[in-house]
Order: sequence, then structure tokens, then C-alpha cells
Amino acid sequence: MGKVISFINQKGGVGKTTMAFNAAHALAKNGHKVLAIDLDPQSNLTLLFKAQNELNIYHLLVNSVKELKMLHAPALLGNVMSRGQVDLLPAGQELSGFDLTVASINAPRQLVLRKFLESNGMIDKYDFIIIDCPPTLGLLVINALCASDGVIVPFRPDDFSLKGLEHFYQVIEDIGDMGIVKAPEVFLHVPNLVDLRRKQESEDLNKIILAIDTELGVGKVFSPFLNKAGLVKSLATRKSVFDFKTQEFSDLQEKFSGVAQRIEEWSYEHI
Ligand SMILES: Nc1ncnc2c1ncn2[C@@H]1O[C@H](COP(=O)(O)OP(=O)(O)OP(=O)(O)O)[C@@H](O)[C@H]1O
Ligand SMILES: [Mg+2]
Repeated sequence: MGKVISFINQKGGVGKTTMAFNAAHALAKNGHKVLAIDLDPQSNLTLLFKAQNELNIYHLLVNSVKELKMLHAPALLGNVMSRGQVDLLPAGQELSGFDLTVASINAPRQLVLRKFLESNGMIDKYDFIIIDCPPTLGLLVINALCASDGVIVPFRPDDFSLKGLEHFYQVIEDIGDMGIVKAPEVFLHVPNLVDLRRKQESEDLNKIILAIDTELGVGKVFSPFLNKAGLVKSLATRKSVFDFKTQEFSDLQEKFSGVAQRIEEWSYEHI
């Protein structure tokens, strides 16, 4: 059985897409079968995969709900999926209408993605399904949470990130309390775009790590990613850091391999 892992933070620009893209490639490089799902109407992950498509995950989701199926043109998985080293279910701007589209259905609105993955046997076909989420805690992200086993939270250490994290943990607890699905486990936080030379930033980071240690137990924060020109360069050329051979990329490769290793270790503990 594969594991579904979402990259989530309701704040924008913290590195969700960057991390999801490179972690997915690191896992594939280790021989795993990986599917990435872009759940963000901005479609940044889809752009990185160069996989824009008229039909996208939105069409698959609405077609997977009986009550909505007859109102929409059919969409087949094979016509939406982009296959490669890492397979991708692309996003599209239609996703921004997801909340409204499912508002009227009687089936549980927060389980549309989970039921889609189950009914297509995706969990058996892949070792890892990596979901890139939009910067909200709206219905799409609730769908990602209800479909996920694990969650990774990239964040920028600042005054506000702690408040955001606490709110996020509460949302996950609420999902567990509903009693319909098991709440996913937030097993890793990744500090990103960190400038350790700035005293305030180091202090904020230490405060956040302490809060996470207290709330979830120690060992759930990865070593910080600094601001790396190499990462910007790789994203601009729509490549993962593993596509480069120069020295500049070796520490980035090591870091993303480290993230992949944490994902593997966590999944082996949760078979
Ligand atoms: N460690 C890093 N070093 C340098 N640039 C980075 C780093 N991490 C991310 N970036 C850049 O920061 C920007 C935001 O990253 P990214 O798109 O991954 O964030 P996001 O959380 O997915 O944003 P959104 O919430 O809008 O989806 C991108 O332009 C990316 O190139
Ligand atoms: Mg993003």
C-alpha cells in the first residue's frame, strides 16, 4: 500500500511546490513509483512538469462524484495523467471553482479526493502520492488532508508562522474528531529560505522548533534550507536538482535526498 503525503502551509511562497517537486524526484530516484498531484489552481507544479493539459484533476474529481458526473463532460484518467519519471495529475484554473461545484452535493464534500484515489486503485499502483496544496485551508486542502497519511509543512521562520502552525494543528485535530477518517500525521516541518546570519530569524526559528517539539515530540523539524540560487536556477529551467551535475547542486541534492529518506523512514514505520 502506498502512502499519500501532502505538502501544506496556508501561507504562500514558503516552498511547498519546490519541496514537493524535488522530494518526488528524490523518491523516484530511489526506485519508488511516485505520483504527484497538483491541487493548486495556480498550477505551479504543473508548470514545473511542463504538463499543462485541457483536462486536469478538477475534471477527474467532478467525474468521480455521481451527482456531478452527468453535469460535466467525461474525463478519463489516461487523458489527464502525464507520465514520466514521476507521474503527474495536473491542475488547472477550474480548480478555483471546486468549492462551489461541490457545495450542492449530498456525498461528503471533504472526501472527494480520497474516494477518487480509492476507486481508481491509486494507492496500490504507487509507493508514494505527493500532493502540492494551495496556500489556503479551504476545501481543496481539507480534501488533501482527508486523503493523506502524512503531512510535511514547509515554513519560513518569522513571528507569524507559529500562530499559523497552531491553527493548522487545530484543523487536523478537528478532522480526527469528525470520526470519518483518521487524521494524517504531521511528521516533518521544513524551515525554508532561512537566513541564519539574521539574529531575529535564528531566534524565531528556535522558538518555533521548541513549540513543535512540545506539541508533537522532538525530531519533527528538518535542518533549514537556506536561500539557494541553485534552486531558483533549477526551477527556472523546470528541472529537479537531480538533473544537474555541478558542485553547486550537490548540497541541494543531499538535502532533498534527506527529505526523501525521512519520508521513507516514516512510511516504513507505518506499514
Ligand atoms: N530555498 C530556496 N532558495 C531560493 N529560492 C527559493 C527557495 N525555496 C523556494 N524558493 C523560491 O521561492 C518562491 C516560492 O516557492 P514555492 O513556489 O515553492 O512556494 P509555495 O509555498 O509553493 O508558494 P504558493 O503558496 O504560492 O504555492 C519560488 O519562486 C521559488 O523559486
Ligand atoms: Mg505552490
